[in-house]
Amino acid sequence: MKAAEKRIVIGVYHLSRSFGKYFALQDINLQVANGEFVFLVGPSGAGKSTLLRLIYMDDFPTTGQVVVGPYVSTRMKRSTIPFLRRRVGIVFQNFRLIDERTVFENVALAMKVTGAGMSEIKRQVTDILARVGLYHKRYDYPPVLSGGEQQRVAIARAVANRPAILLADEPTGNLDPVVTKSILELLFKVNAAGTAVLMATHDIDLVRSFGQRIIYLEEGRIVRDKEMIFVGDLRERLPDSKVSRRADDLEGYDISGEGSGNGVERGPRE
Ligand SMILES: Nc1ncnc2c1ncn2[C@@H]1O[C@H](COP(=O)(O)OP(=O)(O)OP(=O)(O)O)[C@@H](O)[C@H]1O
Ligand SMILES: [Mg+2]
Repeated sequence: MKAAEKRIVIGVYHLSRSFGKYFALQDINLQVANGEFVFLVGPSGAGKSTLLRLIYMDDFPTTGQVVVGPYVSTRMKRSTIPFLRRRVGIVFQNFRLIDERTVFENVALAMKVTGAGMSEIKRQVTDILARVGLYHKRYDYPPVLSGGEQQRVAIARAVANRPAILLADEPTGNLDPVVTKSILELLFKVNAAGTAVLMATHDIDLVRSFGQRIIYLEEGRIVRDKEMIFVGDLRERLPDSKVSRRADDLEGYDISGEGSGNGVERGPRE
């Protein structure tokens, strides 16, 4: 990807999140470009899940801002959240599959809530299950699947809407090394098709060898970011007016645009 084509799909500016007097995250600044693959690494309790939930806008900052494509946390309305969720897929730390629904239905449900039609759902779910190697398990229920298979269903569900961004929270936790490798390969494949991936893990040894950008989180702060790909030092204190302007610059930028998706034909749905 040429530098000129890089656009910011996630921006986090001076974000803090406190629970009572406890700061789970403090003055977090980061940007992720479209099509980028970033590991978010830190020990248990560092704030990784909290940060992913804030980017998913499942939670909101105590101070600071999250900007995801055209969506700005400080101006978010409940009614616009579904639009954001069409563009951002998430794999939760504990899968969160629906045990009473088949593999096929679990993935299909993610598309149904966005209003996709039945024939499109059928085509897309079939395609995605084939790609994650689980088409033969489509009528099985999650409890009979192995941990790695459940994780692949969770990833299939997260990418069902061909998101511009995939957030993956500890997707290789509790999996053996072989399955871990296959999950990572799957995430790289999703990324190669154009989706920006932000993957949280505590396992520094696992991710160090890949040469991807690594953001290190410790006790709620970014202690190191391997590569700052954008001009300007994000850590410098920006006055609020400037932060707001940066958010304005991003408004109207459609994160479903060029360079996103899974390389599958994308139909207009909004
Ligand atoms: N809703 C909440 N209320 C109170 N404290 C919270 C809440 N959510 C998170 N925390 C606290 O924020 C800190 C960061 O939690 P978080 O789950 O983000 O860590 P993590 O890096 O994902 O850890 P792990 O690797 O164990 O998943 C923890 O100390 C946690 O107790
Ligand atoms: Mg976590």
